[in-house]
Amino acid sequence: MAGVHHIVFANEKGGTGKSTTAVHVAIALASRGARVACVDLDSRQRTLYRYLENRRDTIKRRGINLAMPMFEVFENDSQATLERQVDRLSQDNDFMIYDTPGRDDKYARFVATRANTLVTPINDSFVDFDLIGQVDAENFKVRRLSFYAELIWEARKERAKADGVTIDWVVVRNRLHNMEARNQQRMTDAIAELSKRVGFRSVPGLNERVIYRELFPSGLTLIDKGHLGQLATAHIVARQELRELVTGLALPELKSAVLA
Ligand SMILES: Nc1ncnc2c1ncn2[C@@H]1O[C@H](COP(=O)(O)OP(=O)(O)OP(=O)(O)O)[C@@H](O)[C@H]1O
Ligand SMILES: [Mg+2]
Repeated sequence: MAGVHHIVFANEKGGTGKSTTAVHVAIALASRGARVACVDLDSRQRTLYRYLENRRDTIKRRGINLAMPMFEVFENDSQATLERQVDRLSQDNDFMIYDTPGRDDKYARFVATRANTLVTPINDSFVDFDLIGQVDAENFKVRRLSFYAELIWEARKERAKADGVTIDWVVVRNRLHNMEARNQQRMTDAIAELSKRVGFRSVPGLNERVIYRELFPSGLTLIDKGHLGQLATAHIVARQELRELVTGLALPELKSAVLA
């Protein structure tokens, strides 16, 4: 692969699924044989880091062999430190995955400008959507862009000017729920309208499933077949949605790969 590919998970709003999506994508890529390094920029919560730490412990405890990305925390000290950390990890890896805090953060903004792929997970709710655009109360049409969308828009413009790279901005719909067909359709329409104005793509993400919360203590994911005990058979569909999410990200050299 020519050069490292930077995937940044960012959304200023909290609790939208950044860490959950990031960890699943990281492990999915590693399980395909890619060399993956994760940097957790949320030095307080460290969800991504903790998840992978739990995974490392499970590997040790059970004496098993699982695909394992590298993982580090960025301790929020300075941009120079962050750049050094990124440069160091970029040397020997195919993908860099960045998880960022759910608030405005200067380091999150910095890595966003370095992204090849910028992933913004949102829950299927107009509360989350509000962060990107505001919709009319009567007809759900998009009225205007939010500050965050403007910010990303600017970042992409600057990046294109600086080195000609187009940041692929992907809005991932997280916690999809079969029961909410009407709301989902409204969201789909609003997202489609907004995506044309702001230039992002939208792909379906993970469905709402308790298992995504339950796997945290062991650090396992649904693709760790054979290690999930009784969970294994019940979650074939979930495995499929993860596979589709990774495909939807359209990453280099993985466009047609099949998850192991
Ligand atoms: N698809 C899903 N199904 C069920 N629970 C989910 C799903 N995605 C996320 N969650 C749960 O929702 C909560 C928030 O998710 P997560 O920590 O990934 O969001 P975040 O955007 O990283 O939050 P923060 O902004 O606080 O860092 C967690 O408890 C997580 O387990
Ligand atoms: Mg998080």
